Amino acid sequence: MVKNKTKIRKIAINTGGGDAPGLNAVIRAVVVSALNKGYECFGIRDGYNGLMTPGDYPEGGLIPLTRRSVRGITHLGGTILGTTNKGNPTKYPTMGPDGKMYEKDRSDELVAAFKKNGIDALVALGGDGSLGIANVLAEKGIRAIGVPKTIDNDLDKTVITFGFDTAVSFATECLDRLHSTAEAHRRVMVVEVMGRYAGWIALNAGVSGNADAILIPEIPYDINKIAAALKERPKRGKHYAIVVVAEGAKPRGGAVSVVSKELGRAEKLGGAGERVARDLEPLVGKECRTVVLGHLLRGGSPTTFDRLISLRFGAAAVRALEEGYSGVMVALDPPTVRYVPLKDATSRMKVVPLDCDTIMTARDLGISFGD
Ligand code: F6P
Repeated sequence: MVKNKTKIRKIAINTGGGDAPGLNAVIRAVVVSALNKGYECFGIRDGYNGLMTPGDYPEGGLIPLTRRSVRGITHLGGTILGTTNKGNPTKYPTMGPDGKMYEKDRSDELVAAFKKNGIDALVALGGDGSLGIANVLAEKGIRAIGVPKTIDNDLDKTVITFGFDTAVSFATECLDRLHSTAEAHRRVMVVEVMGRYAGWIALNAGVSGNADAILIPEIPYDINKIAAALKERPKRGKHYAIVVVAEGAKPRGGAVSVVSKELGRAEKLGGAGERVARDLEPLVGKECRTVVLGHLLRGGSPTTFDRLISLRFGAAAVRALEEGYSGVMVALDPPTVRYVPLKDATSRMKVVPLDCDTIMTARDLGISFGD
């Protein structure tokens, strides 16, 4: 972990990648604690775009953040700064001399933009992609602190990312609502949730919401095994079922359901739930219907847990800068928040360990993973 005691005057904050409930709470905590410590604060619009393409922002790609700009935003979803998951500065979609598009590393231009605007330090709120960029900036001399954001909870070296609890709580509420309609119609409801290549949302919501089967990327499924488990239910007087499918779930020997892949951004996943419903219907002899919770999981107010952890992360990020840290991410290590190298947090994905007690609990409760 690099330590640099050079005096900081101007801090910039940005939010990158998919939004997550709690972003505004972190922004407020960073701004208020930074102002209280005598720093100036600025927000970069739409990830790094406000600095990369300032011409697109007639009102300014870098906006001053005052107490007034962050008043009353702790409970709001979204981000007052805007975000993007396109145009990663290290893989910027650029047209080559042959007229073809390719990914170009434009991080030096970004570093120059930080210097030109007199920004001494960055607090980056993001998932693995955005914090990977923050790490590149830190390696190139910008003092950068990361704050772990993502509903997917797949960032390593932190017990939790902010946004995850809100997504799981909402998914659980949806499952609660689906039990009665599934039972009324004697249907199988297949519920697809986000999470990319990690099954945290599906697992936690599935166990909390009494699912009968949970399919996660970490455990490739056998559709016949799921069907066999669901066919046991009528013997216990249950003529319906709830199956939770992570968007990254895949059949044994099969592939993840990818919708598209564009330059400069992560591939879009989708269709995993529909595939399970289609393959399951003839095997269980019941109507199988799909509900995709998708972006609903990212909306709304953060839960109390997410608000508090967001405020704690934001304040800790400013303390980290004050203590001279750079190239670190604030991380929850209960009961405290500590600093971990950004490089370690972004070099591998945190997936669900197969021997974790939530998986064991699910199995003990008779929930099928299709394995
Ligand atoms: O990483 C957060 C996330 O919501 C994933 O769960 C999902 O795969 C992805 O973002 C969707 O992103 P987009 O907003 O591009 O559809």
